[in-house]
Amino acid sequence: MSLIRLDCPTTTLILVVAQGAPPSLAYFGNRLHDGVTPEEVVALGTSQGGPGNPDVAITASLAMEPGLGLLGPSGFSAHRDGKDWASRFDVVSAAQDDQRAIIHCADPRTQLALVYVFELDAQTCALSISSTLTNRGGASLDLAEMATACLPIPARMTEIIGFTGRWTGEFQRERIARHSGGYVRENRRGRSSHDTFPGVVLCTPATCENAGEAYGLTLAWSGNHRLRIDTLNDGRVIAQMGALFGAGEMRLAPGASYESPQIIAAYSSAGLTPMSRAFHAHVREKLLTPAMRGKPRPAHYNTWEAVYFDHDVARLKDIATRAAAIGAERFVLDDGWFGSRRDDLSGLGDWFVSADVYPDGLGPLVDHVTGLGMEMGIWFEPEMVNPDSDLYRAHPDWVLQAEGLPQIPYRNQVVLDISRPEVSNYLFERIDAVLSAHDIRYIKWDMNRDLSHPGDAHGQQRAHAQVRALWALLDRLRAKHPGVEIESCASGGGRTDLGILAHTDRIWTSDTNDAIDRQQIQRGTSTFLPAEVMGAHVGPSHCHQTGRRLSMAMRAGTALMGHMGMELNLLTEPEADLAELKDAIALHKKHRALIHSGAQQRLDTPDYLVAMGVVAQDQSEALFSVAWVDGHLRTLPDRVHFTGLDPARHYRLRRVWPSAWRSVSSPSIIEALDLDGQGTVLSGEALMIVGLQMPLSQPETVLLFHLQAQAKG
Ligand code: GLA
Repeated sequence: MSLIRLDCPTTTLILVVAQGAPPSLAYFGNRLHDGVTPEEVVALGTSQGGPGNPDVAITASLAMEPGLGLLGPSGFSAHRDGKDWASRFDVVSAAQDDQRAIIHCADPRTQLALVYVFELDAQTCALSISSTLTNRGGASLDLAEMATACLPIPARMTEIIGFTGRWTGEFQRERIARHSGGYVRENRRGRSSHDTFPGVVLCTPATCENAGEAYGLTLAWSGNHRLRIDTLNDGRVIAQMGALFGAGEMRLAPGASYESPQIIAAYSSAGLTPMSRAFHAHVREKLLTPAMRGKPRPAHYNTWEAVYFDHDVARLKDIATRAAAIGAERFVLDDGWFGSRRDDLSGLGDWFVSADVYPDGLGPLVDHVTGLGMEMGIWFEPEMVNPDSDLYRAHPDWVLQAEGLPQIPYRNQVVLDISRPEVSNYLFERIDAVLSAHDIRYIKWDMNRDLSHPGDAHGQQRAHAQVRALWALLDRLRAKHPGVEIESCASGGGRTDLGILAHTDRIWTSDTNDAIDRQQIQRGTSTFLPAEVMGAHVGPSHCHQTGRRLSMAMRAGTALMGHMGMELNLLTEPEADLAELKDAIALHKKHRALIHSGAQQRLDTPDYLVAMGVVAQDQSEALFSVAWVDGHLRTLPDRVHFTGLDPARHYRLRRVWPSAWRSVSSPSIIEALDLDGQGTVLSGEALMIVGLQMPLSQPETVLLFHLQAQAKG
């Protein structure tokens, strides 16, 4: 077999796998008609040598290894004591198994074997790629770099959308023109990071949310990574992604293998939002457990912004009582319940319930919470230790560090080497003890510093091993406690990626509860993640992160479109706000099955609006959110064009949030179409093509519109 073609409804993939030559990707893009042959696709790409270049054409291989002789970006670098560096991986055999292509390659010269697995899922249309390198030689191999795969992308994708951000400002899109040479994003923080999410989109200048071609790529990896988009001098464009190793970190003993993290990729000919839906489908179908998919996600209460480290059982019980009364179904006890952890200076690592604040243990609080009909959840930050802790005093050698160098301070804590079995065993035993002693159903798993000097007790770098050990520890806990959900938090969204989601159930999207910021963050995060895994909380009226004061209508209307929760002091916030919050939680529950399973929509709007929605998979229902994050230039706002509806059906359109809201002047379209009353039945096509004139609104407002398809006929 020398050519493999895989298809799904939107996408076709063609791989060249001729024996004795390096494997390559001939085509990845819009679904081709069945009659198009892989042979003609390859023929159409016939290249040539030329002056100043080699005399023969060199096809870019999946590995971009040095032995190929293509002097472009490197995707592979390895050696044995300075030798055996010139690998060239030729196909030995290839097979197609339904939607999968499995390609075995080898290099007898450097005694390496390399296996690629490409899977284009027939339902989700997400492409998964992994590669495994095995050292077949008699001596250790130093693997310096290895991209999971290098993928040619059509040169008409002249724009790159990268992702950047910071603490409380995750998933900001940065769109730039592709240029000669490399666009390179490297992350060395030891977690997916706030600023260098392992993902990128390539698209055309005309691509927007709902039109144009887009290629999305993300690395399912929670640690150091490199992604590159290279424009070669002959015009070819190569995208590659892989884990990034420290010096000497990836040394393969004879017979040992390195298994790369997966690249998950998706192509869309119809805009960024349809591309995102392939990633959402992948998360839903491949990463979330069936139990999670089947369970309504409980409305969430978290104690952090209400009490911080000031834990008092009586007060927490009062808060829990109020939380349950306004609709919470889960109560999460955040940082501060263990050891000497009365502030962030000490106690991290001592995972024993503090007798100072919980003289009778956690039991009374857990019983109170579960007695109210809520699930109990609890915070851990397992990978970390405060130097001022019993754990550190007993095991100062358990931390990652570079001998002779001071630790770089981050929140008064250092990192445990959890790849050491005794360390992960300690953590497993402690977490297991807390879970086994109480009816606890949820862990918020935090991680609040970068790995600046990830050296182990033998002086070797362990950042990569740390991620593998983390995933293994999470899996071990999940196996023992299958009913316990786990949230991935890292100072907010610092460990958000498709790798961690194979081992957890939810992401803490961001530490900012500022609804204006959240609108942008949730939109950016939705490029790769569906709404149900995005933790979205209502914070206090006076936002702790930005100082902004936003109405409850805005705060709750924003949180409602994710996995809704709240994180404010229910004993001190205004009663009117709490009554409104109760309504919002009820509305979220009414629509959460739709929000958490439907097809995500991001609308193309001017910058002052953020408009997103979700349409039921059968197009019978939809919920759209239109947020004014700023004022507009003209006296009146724009029309909003809904997407994803069935053009042939009619929908009853109603405004469902905020409950008491009036346009700046009236009558507006709200009254004219009775949108706050019976609503108006409109065709799906008109709602999408003609668009809905927005009423005049002040900035910092969010309106939610519900659409219910009418019975046919
Ligand atoms: C991190 C998290 C917060 C909170 C604190 C507790 O900052 O992102 O949500 O849990 O830690 O210390």
